[in-house]
Amino acid sequence: MDEQTPLTPEVLVPRLGNQLVAMGLLNSEQLTQALRYQREQTAQGKPRLLGETLVELGFIERRVLDRAVTEQILLLRSALENANRTLELRVQQRTSELEEALRKLSELNQLKANFIANISHELRTPLTHVRGYLELLFTEALGALNEDQKKSIEVSLRSAGRLQNLIDDLILFSLASKDELTLQLKSVDLNLLIAPVLTRANPKAVERGVKLFVELDVSLPPVMADAEKLSWVLAQLLDNAIKFTPRGGKVTLIVTQSESMVTINVSDTGIGIAPEKIREIFEPFHQLDSSATRRYGGTGLGLSLVRQIIETHGSLISVVSQLEQGSTFSFPLLFSRPNQIGNQ
Ligand SMILES: Nc1ncnc2c1ncn2[C@@H]1O[C@H](COP(=O)(O)OP(=O)(O)OP(=O)(O)O)[C@@H](O)[C@H]1O
Ligand SMILES: [Mg+2]
Repeated sequence: MDEQTPLTPEVLVPRLGNQLVAMGLLNSEQLTQALRYQREQTAQGKPRLLGETLVELGFIERRVLDRAVTEQILLLRSALENANRTLELRVQQRTSELEEALRKLSELNQLKANFIANISHELRTPLTHVRGYLELLFTEALGALNEDQKKSIEVSLRSAGRLQNLIDDLILFSLASKDELTLQLKSVDLNLLIAPVLTRANPKAVERGVKLFVELDVSLPPVMADAEKLSWVLAQLLDNAIKFTPRGGKVTLIVTQSESMVTINVSDTGIGIAPEKIREIFEPFHQLDSSATRRYGGTGLGLSLVRQIIETHGSLISVVSQLEQGSTFSFPLLFSRPNQIGNQ
């Protein structure tokens, strides 16, 4: 049977009239006549089955008709059983094709994650040497430097630092793609955690002419989190907020608290995100437009990892944004239980 043919009864077995003709119980003129009569009666509001019509017109005896109908039913039943078997086979075939495609896809994903992990580790070793020697030079441990030399080394150190960050992000990404993102959960004092994150974000804010504010209650109870990864998440959100806010704008980190949890909000007065694009920005390597890539830099990895880290904490990140007005990224974190306080 053709794969595309729909399984209607007419396809499975011939219609009753044709069957009777084929069995030699009726001739085709009688069939045409009976069909015409059936149509006329139906048009007059007296619908009847073909079998009834044939008996009524005396073309066939009821007993013969009953036997033919029974045969028709048996034929239909075995045709249906066949069709079922064919369908089951088709489903089995499709399922194994899909399973094979899925296996290939996850193999490919695994290869990609391994490739990124290997390359990142290979890049990290020489970069560690480069940074180490640049630092030795910069601190003048290898001899005094004039002003120009010092400035050049400083620029090289900053670039090497950026490369280091990129490599660290790639390593984190490869771990997350292999579901190997693990957390070291402990009780974390947000005041202690946030201060150095802000210090590190500040030079970029100053350079871009964006004001950085923080609203945080000093008596905030500790939360359960992986301190290093949470710092990284806040650094990424602040980095985005500063990057996508034009000069003169404002970026605020606000921590609000309710009975059992805190909510961390990073708000900006920047370019905003169209509502239909909000899902996309959490996809790895996804940036909202290619010209933005050139204008703002980055690889598009930040938010996908931010989301995975927050979700691994059992929380969820949400975004409220309006184009040209700004964006707020928020996520809640649970307070640590009383017996874990001070455990850091
Ligand atoms: N605060 C924001 N305001 C406006 N757009 C944003 C904001 N944060 C993220 N986006 C959009 O989401 C995209 C993805 O963000 P993400 O942090 O993943 O990547 P990135 O900042 O471009 O690069 P990376 O973080 O790897 O340096 C950004 O390129 C930008 O288009
Ligand atoms: Mg980013």
